[in-house]
Amino acid sequence: MCGIIGYIGKKPAFPVLLSGLKRLEYRGYDSFGFSVLNKNEPFLFKKVGKISEFEQNFPNPSGEIGIAHTRWATTGEVTEANSHPHFDCQKNIFLVHNGIIENYQELKDKLIKEGHKFTSETDSEILCHLIEKYFQDNLEEAVRKALREVKGTYGIAVISKKDPQKIVAARFSSPLILGVNKDEFLVASDPAAIITHTRQIINLDDNEIAVLKPDNFFILKEKPLETIEWKIEEAEKGGYAHFMLKEMMEEPEAIENAINGRLIIEEGSVRLGGLDEIQERLRKINKLILIACGTASYAAKVGKYMLEEYVGVPTEADVGSEFRYRKPITDKNTAAIFISQSGETADTLAALREMKKKGILTIGITNVVGSSQARETDAGIYTRSGPEIAVASSKAFLGQLTTLAMLTVYFGRQRDMSLVMGKRIVFELAKLPELAKEILKQNDKIKELAEKYKDFKNFWFIGRKYNFPIALEGALKLKEISYLHAEGCGAGEMKHGPIALIDENFPTIAICPSDSVYEKMVANIEEIKARKGSIIAIATKGNEEIKKIVDDVIYIPKTLEMLTPILSVIPLHFFAYYLALLLDRDIDKPKNLAKSVTTE
Ligand code: F6R
Repeated sequence: MCGIIGYIGKKPAFPVLLSGLKRLEYRGYDSFGFSVLNKNEPFLFKKVGKISEFEQNFPNPSGEIGIAHTRWATTGEVTEANSHPHFDCQKNIFLVHNGIIENYQELKDKLIKEGHKFTSETDSEILCHLIEKYFQDNLEEAVRKALREVKGTYGIAVISKKDPQKIVAARFSSPLILGVNKDEFLVASDPAAIITHTRQIINLDDNEIAVLKPDNFFILKEKPLETIEWKIEEAEKGGYAHFMLKEMMEEPEAIENAINGRLIIEEGSVRLGGLDEIQERLRKINKLILIACGTASYAAKVGKYMLEEYVGVPTEADVGSEFRYRKPITDKNTAAIFISQSGETADTLAALREMKKKGILTIGITNVVGSSQARETDAGIYTRSGPEIAVASSKAFLGQLTTLAMLTVYFGRQRDMSLVMGKRIVFELAKLPELAKEILKQNDKIKELAEKYKDFKNFWFIGRKYNFPIALEGALKLKEISYLHAEGCGAGEMKHGPIALIDENFPTIAICPSDSVYEKMVANIEEIKARKGSIIAIATKGNEEIKKIVDDVIYIPKTLEMLTPILSVIPLHFFAYYLALLLDRDIDKPKNLAKSVTTE
């Protein structure tokens, strides 16, 4: 989610780091920082904002060794203190980190007791203090010992003024590559950062530690050199044709980031630190209102089904643009939950401010740390989906759905949800990232379907219960990026009007996993079939029967009914993308749309 670059060689490090950071800015852009060893003395420069805002005022430290980072906040607000590089008590060790340290609170408490002084709210800073704890005179040795205590994911680059002629880099589940050139070595989280210096790279593997020196480098085992084949323009999208494709490919990761460190499987519960302070107040809540716009509002609708079925609290779901014009019935035991990727959507914020005026407890489910929504709500949960650049939301929606499922367990276990039920949901949630990856393997099949259906001008999307909002999302995504006409509705509503439109020129996408409403979905599919409408089904793997009544099937793996939307939406995003691609649309920036809708 953030970007790392490090340089060691014969050139001044700062310009190399700066140009690399600019190339990484698409991954994280709320703050940035550099640390350069200038005659073995560290020079530190950190700022909040975009690099371009400081272009005229950059220092130009000399020194041939340095590390830099561009941040997209996950733990800790967007402040200079929270930006990287972080440092230890003695300002001997400087470190940049990508990833999430799950056990950071526990480690931090221990380190504080041992006398360490922290200057940021981040999980990353604990790594500096752990390395400091183990540092004698050899940096890689201290890094090795420190990382043994850490649970979570990391890609790190570390320098030290007491062992100055090296950069130590290590990774676990967070990408890190070494760039190898004559008389210089680089480390980066992404080839985009170093491609202008070298195409010779080594991909570090999990648990490997690399030591880069001015004239050589070593890692735990010998690794062959590989060559980057990308063009520079492609690199910024990680090699994908569009940001949207890249972000859809990150959907399993979005689920994983949302659940990372939050599931307590043995207790059938979840840890949502952002709600700790209002925990007692939440026990008394007897009405929930979920408010959002567009795609996020469909997450709200799914959330309503989850919360009503498993928590038993009356729940409304409304769009921000309408909510504040009605007179919602609330009292002191109502909580309003706002869902937004950007945290800056004007209609959602206006509804939030209206609820605050009335003294209603407000909770944010937000992706962007430090956004207006995150700051103005009483408490919140970050979805940690990473930056979403394409205008059409994709992976952020997966983060929102996953977070709502966790919130359901949280509220449920505060009330009468049994340990067994809590365990079941949490256990299935933990499996979702892998199940989502299975769906990505069907890309070619979805591409072929898009090819088959590309000449149709109208599409209908139907689903029931948990997958009714997914029908709405499938239709929205298709219309906004392909400009084709698409509608979505609850499958049972077809015969109350829309079915009048169905004929051989009007295909339907039916989301019909094997769940409690499957039989009803089959009946609705038959009704469409009887009117010559072709049907693409999104069905559960193993359901061979469905093939007899529909034209095409995309399978999703089996999971709990309440979690099916998290999987069933993935093929719909890809279907919209491939149709838009075939129609040569401007996928990342569809006409008439903006990423963050800050007007009402
Ligand atoms: C659709 C889409 C929009 C947003 C909506 C809310 O693909 O991106 O419908 O979901 O504008 O935006 P956030 O989530 O930033 O509040």
